[in-house]
This record gives sequence, C-alpha cells and structure tokens, in this order.
Amino acid sequence: MRKLIIAGNWKMNAGTVDAAVQLARGLVAKYGQTTAVDIVLGPPYTALREVKAVIANTRIALSAQNMYPKTDGAYTGEISPLFLKDCGCQYVILGHSERRTIFKESNAFINEKVQCALAHGLIPILCIGETEQEREDGQTEAVVEDHLRGGLAGLTKEQVKSMVIAYEPVWAIGTGKTATPADAQSVHAFCREVITGLYDRDTAETVRIQYGGSVKPDNAKELLTQPDIDGALVGGASLKVDSFSGIIENSGAF
Ligand code: PGA
Repeated sequence: MRKLIIAGNWKMNAGTVDAAVQLARGLVAKYGQTTAVDIVLGPPYTALREVKAVIANTRIALSAQNMYPKTDGAYTGEISPLFLKDCGCQYVILGHSERRTIFKESNAFINEKVQCALAHGLIPILCIGETEQEREDGQTEAVVEDHLRGGLAGLTKEQVKSMVIAYEPVWAIGTGKTATPADAQSVHAFCREVITGLYDRDTAETVRIQYGGSVKPDNAKELLTQPDIDGALVGGASLKVDSFSGIIENSGAF
C-alpha cells in the first residue's frame, strides 16, 4: 500500500519569514502528528530554516523547490544539496514545469539534479507533464515517457522506489483547470507501465506518483482516490491553512 503524500509548493510566495512561519504554525496545529498521510511543505529557500524550526518534532517534512547539482564551488546564486540538508530539508522538488519552461532546464540537467539529490540523501520529487499544445497534439504519453526516461536515467530500482514523481499537466498548473480524474488516472497508470518497462513491476508499484495542477479541496477526493494517484503537489491552494487543510481532509486517507 502506497501512503498518500501531499506536498505544498509555495513557489515564490509566502516568502517573508513571518508569512511562512504563520502558515507552517497553522498546519502544525492541525496536522503536526498526522500519520495517515505524509505532509511536506516547500517554502522559498529564505524561509526554510524558520519553517524547519516550526515543524521540528512533528510528522511534517520540509522540501526545497530546486537545487543545483554540485556540493560547492563557483556557482553564483545557486544552492547546494548540502545547504538544503543543513536547513533540514528531506525532499527537493526537481524539474518543475516552471523550471523547464522559464529556466530552460533540460531532462539531462534535471537528471543530474535527481542523481545528486539522491547521492546526498534528499528525496527528489521529480515533476513531469505535457503542455496544452502537446496534449492537443496527442503527445501526452510521449512527453511523459520522455520526462520519465530522461529524469530517471542511470538510477537503480531502489533509488526509484525511494523517490516521488509528480505528474503535473502544465495546462492545469495555476489555471483552475484540472485533468479529469479518469484522465489523470490513465496517465498515472501509463507512468507505471513506463517504469515497469525501465525497471520492473515491483518498482512501478512502489514509487509514489502525485498529481499536480489546480488541486483544491473540492476536487481532491476524486483525484486522490484514483488507484494510481498517490497524493498531490499543490501550488496555489497550499498557501492558505484552510485550503491546504481541505485537500488533506478530502484526500480519502482518513
Ligand atoms: P497549482 O500548482 O496547484 O497552483 O496549479 C501546482 C504546482 O505547480 O506544483
């Protein structure tokens, strides 16, 4: 049985220490000891340490939103996996569509990050997903397969089993549009087929695959109770205690 994992990707929001601490405190008050689902918070880098202090000794985990695939050196403005570990991160979101499109990150670069994160004991949340145009062109499966093959290249079965994948159709991110539960389920099942081909069925059945893209309290239940959807990566609705709580409450895990 795969446990649901619900992660908040705060993006470049809630970035003042006060705002981040308030949000984290509100969630700790409700879910600090929750074990039915894994809850992960992804604040901006500048608030990681303060959020970690709020969630210390709770069941809530900390994620960064990105990482540079080197431990140290002359990489002005970048953040090393060692710094993320030092701030208390257990997870790191990699290959988010905003990184792929705005910052032109390639599969090969994302794969370097995934490998580096794993090598330093961080759990990658590898994001994959097609654009609206790609979906209209009937390319959804081809794109998802390409992102999986590229992102997972060179990893062992055990590494793949330990990580998290987030299927996020780009056209659903921040738009209020969501894939229908049936469409999302079918892409998730397809991801497991690809992973079965690359590794084996056991690996495909073990790795957790989140759905992301306008997940809200009112659509969480039908999405998260699909057999191959193992949680959510939440942007906009993770910025308020009430809406993130609504997703957790409606996840079907309680
Ligand atoms: P959204 O973002 O929930 O605001 O659509 C999801 C994401 O980008 O991870």
